[in-house]
Amino acid sequence: MQIKTHMGVSLDGLVTSADGLPAWDWDPGHDGKSAPLGYTDFMENVGAVVMGRTTFEQGLPDWKDAWPWGERPIRVLTHRPLPDGAPPRVKTSNGGPQAVVDELKKSGITKDVQLLGGPKAIQSFIDADLLDRLGIVVLPVLLESGIPLFPVNATEFSREVWDKSSHKPAKETVRTMRLESQKQLEGRAVHIVYAFN
Ligand SMILES: NC(=O)c1ccc[n+]([C@@H]2O[C@H](COP(=O)([O-])OP(=O)(O)OC[C@H]3O[C@@H](n4cnc5c(N)ncnc54)[C@H](OP(=O)(O)O)[C@@H]3O)[C@@H](O)[C@H]2O)c1
Repeated sequence: MQIKTHMGVSLDGLVTSADGLPAWDWDPGHDGKSAPLGYTDFMENVGAVVMGRTTFEQGLPDWKDAWPWGERPIRVLTHRPLPDGAPPRVKTSNGGPQAVVDELKKSGITKDVQLLGGPKAIQSFIDADLLDRLGIVVLPVLLESGIPLFPVNATEFSREVWDKSSHKPAKETVRTMRLESQKQLEGRAVHIVYAFN
């Protein structure tokens, strides 16, 4: 079982525009109806889906009429009861990443788990060392403001800081990963998969 993502990300690193609309919807080739780029292949070996509460609450009104995950069990990371209208195959999980992974394994899931997002849920899996594959699709759009895949602390060049710097990367302070695959999708986007574990 691998825990893996398939996130649509703008070229400037955002997963949504400022109003919270997913970057997928800003893909200039998106027709508003079909699955996100690369999604059908990605879902082939997915046996369960985990997501953060914000992502679930935002998506539920659209998903109710055309449920995107078939019979796969869904786990929503949340500390509160689900909103009205959540289908019975959707259950909450409030014990964090390890608890939800253990519970899915115990329930017999052997296929991969899609970690749908959003960024908070993904970060918690990275922090727990439980994300196996970070798959992103880099979309040809600059959104300029919105929710970043990873929070960044933007800085400007400072002569003072530079003069004090060792001018060498402090590699032990950053997280690195291994490139597993990359592929052009429909001539406009790039699907990149990084292996964490
Ligand atoms: N572009 C894409 O591919 C893509 C994919 C997915 C989502 N998105 C976008 O991402 C946005 C939401 O992302 P987000 O990061 O703000 O929220 P999120 O990860 O969807 O949900 C965060 C909430 O989940 C609950 N939670 C419980 N345990 C958690 C844990 N271990 N880790 C993380 N959350 C936990 C918390 O809610 P409580 O404590 O209140 O219960 C927390 O506030 C939406 O706008 C959505 O459209 C984009």
